[in-house]
Amino acid sequence: MRLTKEESRLLRASEGEATRKAMKLLKGLGDFYGADSLIPVGSCQISGVSYKTGGEALLAVLEAFVEEGVKVSVPSYLNPAGMDLCEWGAMGICSEFASKQKTIISLYKKMGIKALCSCTPYNVVKPPRAGEHVAWGESSAVAYCNSVLGARTNREGALSALASAIVGKTPNYGLHLAKNRAPTHRFEVRFEMEELDFPILGKHIGREVKGGIPFISGITEARPWQLKALGAAMAATGSVAMFHVEGLTPEAGQRQYSNARCKRVSLGPADIKSIRASERTKTDADLVVFGCPHCDIEELEAIARMLKGRKVARGLKLWVFVPRPLLSRPKAKAAAKAITKAGGFVFCDTCCVVSPLEDMGFKGVITNSGKASVYLKNLSGTPPVLASTVECIEYCTRKG
Ligand code: F3S
Repeated sequence: MRLTKEESRLLRASEGEATRKAMKLLKGLGDFYGADSLIPVGSCQISGVSYKTGGEALLAVLEAFVEEGVKVSVPSYLNPAGMDLCEWGAMGICSEFASKQKTIISLYKKMGIKALCSCTPYNVVKPPRAGEHVAWGESSAVAYCNSVLGARTNREGALSALASAIVGKTPNYGLHLAKNRAPTHRFEVRFEMEELDFPILGKHIGREVKGGIPFISGITEARPWQLKALGAAMAATGSVAMFHVEGLTPEAGQRQYSNARCKRVSLGPADIKSIRASERTKTDADLVVFGCPHCDIEELEAIARMLKGRKVARGLKLWVFVPRPLLSRPKAKAAAKAITKAGGFVFCDTCCVVSPLEDMGFKGVITNSGKASVYLKNLSGTPPVLASTVECIEYCTRKG
């Protein structure tokens, strides 16, 4: 990978050891993947925030970075942490975990990174423009960024995203190049999509294409949160970082993509019936979870509407995860209030996967999230159940 004079200078430590290490990492990545150069990024989204997943090693690395005076040079935001930074007590988080998690957040802040603690930054800060290069880490955010926003990012690791945040650049390879954004598989949907089909279909397609790029036709309409759910599920069962939906995502209409020759699969009513059936299992779950990825206003309002006149049943918990800045908007605030009034909890800064749920004694989970239903497999008790938003609400208020 060619470096400019300025980039070579950074590699010689004239700007400090931390910047030199960040440049070295980006140069190594670029050389490995055959990038021709580094390109500027508009923003970085950094995963590796939860004390549950990072532990003492994360704390030690961040302390060393801060000691070295590491600062980011482009707008950078954090992925969810291991707890709601204000209401951690209501989640059942112990004070030792809370103290460690708060230290991690304060160290990131010292580097100039915004503690957005959300996997849907595009819903609460200015989203990247179509064609803009960014370095994002969380898999559902990456899929949404490439597919729905039309911006360009690879699926970055915590360290590579941080290195990009310090240097302000990323190696030009993978999904930053138009030629790598073409579909590898085509799926023709020949049935009427219901709400739950977005995560269900996402899980199915992710398993089929693994790291490929699916092109889906036959979905006539979808709200942004439905595309978010579709992409999050594909990224969870496969490692899908980009997808096209004919007529709905910005690059699906490009002739070289819509005509791309690749494996074709047709999915009819009988296929979806058997895929749906595979998700239907009995449960004695005591936790109902929404907000993986974090809810937008439309989802939050829908949950509040469905809860009207109902109460969360004794012995059950309803948790809804949102990005904190969303709650400063009057509509979201009103919906959150209604959810709380019905006995639910609206938590920020965290999610059901990166918080230490397995230590909280829950028997099982019901969720409308395809991604959560994959990642919560290791929770003790019954396996997670994927159900529609209405079914989840009915389940948690059934005795109310
Ligand atoms: Fe987001 Fe956590 Fe789900 S980071 S996509 S809410 S696993």
